[in-house]
Amino acid sequence: MSPVTIRLETSRLQLREFKGSDKLAFARYRSDPAIAKYQNWDIPYSEAAAADFIESLQQLTPGILGEWYQLAIELKATGEMIGDCAFCILADDSKQAEIGFTIAQTHQGKGYATEAVTCLLEYLFKNQNLHRVRANCDPENIASIKLLKRVGMRLEGHFIKSLWFKNNWVDELWFAILDDEWN
Ligand SMILES: CC(C)(COP(=O)(O)OP(=O)(O)OC[C@H]1O[C@@H](n2cnc3c(N)ncnc32)[C@H](O)[C@@H]1OP(=O)(O)O)[C@@H](O)C(=O)NCCC(=O)NCCS
Repeated sequence: MSPVTIRLETSRLQLREFKGSDKLAFARYRSDPAIAKYQNWDIPYSEAAAADFIESLQQLTPGILGEWYQLAIELKATGEMIGDCAFCILADDSKQAEIGFTIAQTHQGKGYATEAVTCLLEYLFKNQNLHRVRANCDPENIASIKLLKRVGMRLEGHFIKSLWFKNNWVDELWFAILDDEWN
């Protein structure tokens, strides 16, 4: 495990480093076609792939420029791992980051993603002292668009067929928020 870890808390959630025991829950929700549809892995997502991914995360130090750092989202009430969120401080600009997020379908619609992403943004602006955080999503990914708007991110651009994704050229929506908008 990396000597530097992040542990964040909200009223209902804990955002923490991944553990080996997360592999089953992680492989299960990553294998869900609705979860994988707009994300960059193929399904089924095996337990072995989950174990390898989790092991690779444990070697990482959070905040390395250009490297995604993934946090597990755990329900405080039950200890269940229900999703993940991630950030990547840009390789060419240490004051900006990109974020991503996933919540297992059975736990969607309860505001957990809003709570986790709000907590992640607070960490990035207050602890990492970033200037700007961005996120991108497919224009058909309505739940993600609603979430990004709900946490206060602005739609800044709609790129047309700008990404080669799962054998198609797809559009990208880019959202962002600045530190002085967050305060
Ligand atoms: C994007 C994603 C994380 C959003 O999850 P979500 O559960 O819809 O988002 P939230 O946790 O913020 O929940 C919001 C919903 O819960 C409802 N809700 C219930 N209790 C709530 C509470 N206490 N606080 C806030 N919202 C609450 C809201 O009204 C909202 O419902 P609505 O969508 O009908 O308007 C989820 O759809 C997902 O994992 N998708 C697959 C992965 C993916 O595509 N990730 C993004 C790649 S860009």
